[in-house]
Amino acid sequence: MERFDVAAEIIQEAGKILRRCHLEQAEISQKTGHQDLVTFWDRKIEQQLRHSILTAFPQDSIVGEEYPPQENCDRKVTWYLDPIDGTTNFINQHQNYAISMGCWEGADPLFGLVLDVERETLYWAKHGDGAWQNQTQIHTSGRRELAELLLTTPGLQYTFLESHPYQKQMIQLSRKVRGVRCLGSVALELCEVAAGRADLFVTMRSSPWDHNAARIILEEAGGAIFTVDGGELPLDQKSTVLALNDIELKNRILCV
Ligand code: IPD
Ligand code: CA
Ligand code: CA
Repeated sequence: MERFDVAAEIIQEAGKILRRCHLEQAEISQKTGHQDLVTFWDRKIEQQLRHSILTAFPQDSIVGEEYPPQENCDRKVTWYLDPIDGTTNFINQHQNYAISMGCWEGADPLFGLVLDVERETLYWAKHGDGAWQNQTQIHTSGRRELAELLLTTPGLQYTFLESHPYQKQMIQLSRKVRGVRCLGSVALELCEVAAGRADLFVTMRSSPWDHNAARIILEEAGGAIFTVDGGELPLDQKSTVLALNDIELKNRILCV
């Protein structure tokens, strides 16, 4: 089987497990504090995905949120896994969370899959083949006027309320756009831009497993993605993220 087919099968199997699971209070624990949580299910799903990938492709490497990377990390093909993106939503809402799997060959994107688990909606893209929401091809919106744009961001606190070097620019941007939305999952919010239901995305903190699948989907849908100062988004480091429905907006957003 091809890597993409294996990925499509195992992400759906993992989704079934999460849809059926009953989260117990004792299965929730804090990582760095009460706003940074992990559950038994995050770990179980990541272990299951890792096992399936490495059984089929033992030469590949895996960068996932909940477990340290393998020792030999300079292998050719790398999978970026977030077993649950939106753990807080998973805990409090049991919706608005995703499984995210992005596969890269060195710096070249191969494919990305983001499963909105509770809506049973799979966003996916193979490099060069367009972006899809289940069986329907998706495109970013054609909106170009700032006053018509919806901006999505996963955390109001870190984007607008806490002090950081871009705080003024972000507040300014929030005043110029049509509205701000906050879903609480980097992967799903990037897919919202890919599908044309939002136009811009910003976050001050994102990790490779949060965005390395959805960025492939977004770019295949016609969007563009950078760090918030307009630089190249790194593949293997935490960074800020700015995503746009079209590269044409870049200079206007950077200069608000
Ligand atoms: C988090 C979510 C959240 C975002 C955080 C991420 P997690 O991922 O995407 O919306 O604000 O920066 O770390 O912990 O739920 O996988
Ligand atoms: Ca995440
Ligand atoms: Ca996660």
